[in-house]
Amino acid sequence: MTTHDNTDDDDTDVITAKPRPFWVAGRPENSGQTLEVHHPYDGTDVATVSVPEADHVERAIAAAAGVAKEFRSTPAHVRAAALDHVSRTLAERSEEIAETITAENGKPLKWAEIEVARAVSTFRFAAEEARRFAGELQRFDTDANGEGRLGLIRRRPRGPVLAVAPFNFPLNLVAHKVAPALAVGSPVIVKPASATPLSALLLGEILAETDLPAGAFSVLPVRGSAMSALVEDPRLPVISFTGSTKVGWGIMQSAPRKHVVMELGSNSAAIICPDWTDLDHAAKRIALFGNYQGGQSCIAVQRVIVHRDVADAFVPKLVDAVSGLRTGDPHDPEVEVGPVIDEDNAARVTDWIAEAVSAGGRVLTGGDRKGTTIEPTVLVDVPLTAKVSCEEVFGPVLVVSVVDSVDEAFELANGTEYGLQAGVFTTDLRVAFRAAAELEVGGVVIGDVPSYRADQMPYGGVKGSGTGREGVRSAMDDYTEDQTMVLSGIDL
Ligand code: SIN
Repeated sequence: MTTHDNTDDDDTDVITAKPRPFWVAGRPENSGQTLEVHHPYDGTDVATVSVPEADHVERAIAAAAGVAKEFRSTPAHVRAAALDHVSRTLAERSEEIAETITAENGKPLKWAEIEVARAVSTFRFAAEEARRFAGELQRFDTDANGEGRLGLIRRRPRGPVLAVAPFNFPLNLVAHKVAPALAVGSPVIVKPASATPLSALLLGEILAETDLPAGAFSVLPVRGSAMSALVEDPRLPVISFTGSTKVGWGIMQSAPRKHVVMELGSNSAAIICPDWTDLDHAAKRIALFGNYQGGQSCIAVQRVIVHRDVADAFVPKLVDAVSGLRTGDPHDPEVEVGPVIDEDNAARVTDWIAEAVSAGGRVLTGGDRKGTTIEPTVLVDVPLTAKVSCEEVFGPVLVVSVVDSVDEAFELANGTEYGLQAGVFTTDLRVAFRAAAELEVGGVVIGDVPSYRADQMPYGGVKGSGTGREGVRSAMDDYTEDQTMVLSGIDL
């Protein structure tokens, strides 16, 4: 397994004696402190990473604030060229980067390859959007007092962005914060997850090859305890956070004057309506997308809500599909379900399964774990108060409920503090539109699982699942605000 170490010309092993540098204002730096990255599957050492100290954090913030004015005036073609460079380089180095994702995160290599391909698109979309992000004209002669006046409404960057990224997509969820920031000309400081900093550091290396001004980006793998210096600093007026609900709302409270975009957890529902005939397909999709990445996606299926008319036929198909998923070494091409991120989370998930069982739930398949690998699990008869029903499992667990009507299905789907995405298996257009109108979520996927995401689409939640939207163009809107220039004496 190889990766590019920016301090050497040659490829070196991922396991290297020299700590990986972090990036301060576009330059690699080291410190006296390090953190170890371990492979979630077997705990082996993957890499040692230098950890920034207070002085590095201060210099990164000062550089971001110092370059903000110059950067927002950078021509669109310069920003677009940098984003295109990142997109092309990710594609060229895709094999090595996918290996890095698998090494640090434990997701099967084939899913890591998909993640790299998605990040290639995310940066490409950002380059395209950078070229066309121009604002709009508004005429004011709709009233007599506005005659001869024209509004030129343009989006101005709110200022440098603090991007706090999670471990579950260590490349593409960093890309979803960095690419739109650079597209609008906002400096960005990335705080990757401590378990998975390597992909973000690699991205730093690729960004350093561009002509972006110094200070336009920093990648700081600081420990969680050092986050408050970044979160509370007024020179970083925008925070884009993806991660747990508790941490997200905590950030919001500690930085009330900032523009905070949060993509938080969920316990997404897939609803199988009585008109859906291809139950094999629904069962396979739900099995796969309840368990991909060890269930560690905010839009992994967690709750399966099936109409009674089709439940007897559907549930055995689901159990078959789930029990057919291979677990094991993420490098094995046959493996669909890798480990969860660490032993603590694996233990938490199996504790939650045990809690559901002691409250009356039944395990139809799975339920056990070996180290960090949890057997894909299907539960039924679980009370709504059990954690696997009402909280975010972030593990390979599906909870099946049988309902008597579409009304009841929607009510059950809404009966949670979360609201990210829902999937509705129906071919009935009226039900589809009702789902969009009635389900309290940021996105409804008709005819498939809630786990579908195109990287250009608005993506984010309602209720406890967060606020603001990612998806390149939506994030660009979030990182900017309208500025109106009124032109007077115009011949309209
Ligand atoms: C997430 O876990 O929120 C991201 C899901 C995705 O990008 O597919």
